[in-house]
Amino acid sequence: MKKSVRQVLRKIYGGRADVHLDLYGLSNQHRRKHGRGCDMFPSDPLQAPLWAAFASLTHARRILEVGCGHGYTAAVMASAAGPDCRVDTIEEDHDHANLAEQSFELRGLSARIHVLRGRGQNVLSRLKGQYDIVFLDGDWREYPGYIPHLRRLTHPGSIVVTANLNPLFGGWGGRLPGKPAIQSYLTRLVRDPHFRTYVVPGEWHSISVRV
Ligand SMILES: C[S@@+](CC[C@H](N)C(=O)[O-])C[C@H]1O[C@@H](n2cnc3c(N)ncnc32)[C@H](O)[C@@H]1O
Repeated sequence: MKKSVRQVLRKIYGGRADVHLDLYGLSNQHRRKHGRGCDMFPSDPLQAPLWAAFASLTHARRILEVGCGHGYTAAVMASAAGPDCRVDTIEEDHDHANLAEQSFELRGLSARIHVLRGRGQNVLSRLKGQYDIVFLDGDWREYPGYIPHLRRLTHPGSIVVTANLNPLFGGWGGRLPGKPAIQSYLTRLVRDPHFRTYVVPGEWHSISVRV
């Protein structure tokens, strides 16, 4: 997104995109320090108002994230949904999980955000109950295997947001492996009678509503 567009949007949002912004900065700092293999890319702060909108729409009481990182988006989602909502966030990297837990502790969010350690595909199969919002922000090569879990762990009206679709469409991540997995995931999700899915061009997220 162009810098000028970002500035206009930030003005319009008037601080609504600034929630837990320090954690966004810490995530980027960590990635630069951690080295090339680190994929702690926090979501765009301009996406923060989306969680407030979806939390209101779904009356969210349970939110699930795959790919916690430093905990930036989990904290944004927890704050957007309010004190009656619990967030479960899955993280496979122990250092990242530790950093996220420390962040939640410092913000008084530990009782509301639970870090589940392990790979998405392994942890998802152990989860029970249904979530109002699911955010997929981890290794896209696992996404096709998530589809049965998405059906099982959502209810009509739940919303699933999937990030990291860029490798298929170009721009960021265009040279990364795993394009067939993203294509297979999106094709199956779009054709799945349990979901209505919109792929957001340019942003390269998808938004699915469970029906
Ligand atoms: C893009 S970052 C997540 C950023 C976070 N959602 C945010 O916006 O602040 C990806 C994180 O997911 C973790 N991760 C990647 N693939 C994963 C997987 N398959 N299962 C669990 N964690 C994964 C990485 O270690 C990294 O911390």
